[in-house]
Amino acid sequence: MANITIFEHPLIKHKITLLRDKATGTKDFRTLIEEIAMLMGYEALRDLPLEEIEVETPICKTMAPVVSGKKLAIVPILRAGLGMVSGILALVPSAKVGHIGMYRDEVTHIPHEYYCKLPDNIGERTIIVLDPMLATGGSAVDAVNLIKQRGGKHIKFMSIIAAPEGLKALSEAHPDVEIYCGNLDEKLNENCYIVPGLGDAGDRIFGTK
Ligand code: PRP
Ligand code: URA
Repeated sequence: MANITIFEHPLIKHKITLLRDKATGTKDFRTLIEEIAMLMGYEALRDLPLEEIEVETPICKTMAPVVSGKKLAIVPILRAGLGMVSGILALVPSAKVGHIGMYRDEVTHIPHEYYCKLPDNIGERTIIVLDPMLATGGSAVDAVNLIKQRGGKHIKFMSIIAAPEGLKALSEAHPDVEIYCGNLDEKLNENCYIVPGLGDAGDRIFGTK
């Protein structure tokens, strides 16, 4: 059974409501995506491994914890996942960043991969896949497949809004992936958009359409 976290924090809920508002413009939308990613990332990274190192304070030498192991890998799904990267980098500035390019066919809603570049030694890193929208789950399932084919093992997936259909698809296809969602919405509409959702995340982040 997959490990699923749906956030209940009032600040996350508040900011998601602002994101949903169609009157929220590009600049504020980008800022909100970044802030929500940071708040979610704080929780999603609570199991990062630590090791003790010696430091010398102005008072004495002591042993104190630092994050250990290979650096975290952040992997946004293009385009909309890019909006979340800066929020996670604010928490872990030394993280490596990979990219997976996927677009959903407008008619079939099936995802198509057009780019994949991951940090080296991916199998030794904690990986956080970022995409604000988990709709049918097709893009997320395929992105995790790609990462696993390249050796990725310890994978977390973070979306700001999920539909029940996408959550089910991802958790069934990849029960080992820890899934973090800012909110679980009601359903998908006939065009596979999340209801109530926030519309097209990529277009709202980049001001396209
Ligand atoms: C959106 C979104 C996800 C995907 C979710 O991207 O950012 O990647 O749809 O849908 P799914 O769960 O049904 O696969 P889109 O394909 O519109 O590409 P874009 O980010 O480049 O606009
Ligand atoms: N992609 C989006 O950007 N929004 C949705 O509601 C579904 C997929």
